[in-house]
Amino acid sequence: MDSIFSGVQPTGNLHIGNYFGAIKNFVEIQRRENISKTYYCVVDLHTITVWQDPEQLKKETLETAASFIAAGIDPKKSIIFNQSRVSSHAELAWILNCICRIGWLNRMTQFKEKAGKNKEKASVGLYAYPVLMASDILSYKSNLVPVGDDQKQHLELARDIANKFNHDYKVEFFPEIKPLIFGSATRVMSLRDGQKKMSKSDESEFSRINLLDDKDTIRNKIKKAKTDSESIMGLEALEDNGEFKTDIVVQRPEAVNLLNILCAAENISKKEAVSMFSGKNFSDLKEGLSDSLISKIIPIGTEMKKMITDKKYLSSVLNTGAEVAEEDSKKNLLEIKNIIGFN
Ligand code: AMP
Ligand code: TRP
Repeated sequence: MDSIFSGVQPTGNLHIGNYFGAIKNFVEIQRRENISKTYYCVVDLHTITVWQDPEQLKKETLETAASFIAAGIDPKKSIIFNQSRVSSHAELAWILNCICRIGWLNRMTQFKEKAGKNKEKASVGLYAYPVLMASDILSYKSNLVPVGDDQKQHLELARDIANKFNHDYKVEFFPEIKPLIFGSATRVMSLRDGQKKMSKSDESEFSRINLLDDKDTIRNKIKKAKTDSESIMGLEALEDNGEFKTDIVVQRPEAVNLLNILCAAENISKKEAVSMFSGKNFSDLKEGLSDSLISKIIPIGTEMKKMITDKKYLSSVLNTGAEVAEEDSKKNLLEIKNIIGFN
């Protein structure tokens, strides 16, 4: 039986990249058979690797939990909790810090991007961030991890850490970790620059569609989205396997991004999306995309706004989730301590 784990940082500005790349897939997986448990975690320990205002962190933790439930994750079927409530995550992370090699962490591209030029001033936590991610997953011996494309390298590292632990201690304890990266929008790009990932921290609000945006804002952001000067491409832009050809992605990243978002929102193939708009103007595609996003995102945002006012309900979901997660992870941690030789 498969066990699922994934996490989202409570850093605010949840956007359609988070939704189409990850949260929508969390909901889909929850319905699959042959799954023993699904853990969906608000990863607040990861968030403090860069400075967070304490009041804001509290608010965003509830908001992220609200986004899970509003998107369709059922707290009766899935374990929804915040990471700092379950001590095994930090405890196992220490153990895994002693398994992971410095050279492995030095290869992490996200650290290089986030630390920027001033690496010396970055927190040790930011550097060790992927080890904590491995600990999250391995605390529950989960094997399948739904994420957006940007987390692939971190999951390869988590798999290497698990394998090295098994190898060093001559056990078959941890399972093989596999990323689940699927759907039409595994990497949603910025609406202002098709070469850049849509991100919570981009200073331009026009770069992303937030889950809490209203109709007019969605329409306006899509209207202002960057395009190129040609009309929408035809079916010759697609490979036989239905994906966009690499040269098209390189030459027309904004057009490809808008079509990918449409595919994700409408659950249609790239062939269907291209056929609908081939030869038409960007204004037609933008109108269709705005209508589609409004019909898919507004209901989630409305539900989130309603839920955010019910702090009692959200806290009770997080409390129940933390109790279950604590119990499940404690059992594994005891076995791990025994393998290591702790008395
Ligand atoms: P984060 O907000 O960094 O905690 O990301 C939460 C989840 O959303 C992770 O699985 C990410 O891979 C995914 N994600 C974040 N940004 C994007 C994006 N632009 N496109 C697709 N998935 C994304
Ligand atoms: N690092 C992930 C992100 O920023 C969030 C995360 C933390 C995560 N722990 C995880 C994702 C464990 C999957 C599994 O997107």
